[in-house]
Amino acid sequence: MSVKIAPSILAADFANLERDTKMINSSEADWFHIDIMDGVFVPNISFGIPVLAAIQKHAKKPLDVHLMIIDPDRYIETFADLGAAILTVHYEACDHLHRTLQKIKSCGMKAGVALNPHTPIASLDSIIQDIDLVCIMSVNPGFGGQSFIENTFEKVKQLKKLINQYSSECLIEIDGGVTNTNYSELIACGANVLVAGSYVFKAENPAENIKLLKS
Ligand code: DX5
Ligand code: ZN
Repeated sequence: MSVKIAPSILAADFANLERDTKMINSSEADWFHIDIMDGVFVPNISFGIPVLAAIQKHAKKPLDVHLMIIDPDRYIETFADLGAAILTVHYEACDHLHRTLQKIKSCGMKAGVALNPHTPIASLDSIIQDIDLVCIMSVNPGFGGQSFIENTFEKVKQLKKLINQYSSECLIEIDGGVTNTNYSELIACGANVLVAGSYVFKAENPAENIKLLKS
């Protein structure tokens, strides 16, 4: 299976969202990565439901929605109605993760779990079989443009081992600081989905950088 590329809209030009959405449509990217932040779980507020609805009108590829919010259960139906294909919640934000994942699936979406840099892979031992995607945060969530945390490589290898142990189909996604300097090692360690914000949108030719990560 070839690696999937999910450009993060957080780094797009919000005054030109239609243009940037169409660029992703016509590029080799696979998914749209959508970061929703509440200013409580993370120290930043990104954008909310009306903005996602506007993106969704033009997007022709699956929406990979990353919720950095407390008590995400309140919004599961809302994001299903907005057309999310994958809904990822944070391990650290869920008291009843199993119930949350079941609810996401019952709304017709794939269920993802994101882990902050300090959260061990072993935290997922008892729940891995219920997860469609694990998003390993390779920066502290909340902002684009941060530097990649090197320990991520080790975490990807550990997660790959756990997934193999259960013969699970779970995908490994990496989010934060992904560039041409680390993508090949991430793939070698077992990554299936690469999120890239700044590396794509701050480039002179975003479609070219997507192509490079995909190659
Ligand atoms: C960070 C977000 C990321 C971010 C990645 O909290 O979850 O998706 O947009 O941006 P870069 O690729 O610039 O680190
Ligand atoms: Zn994200």
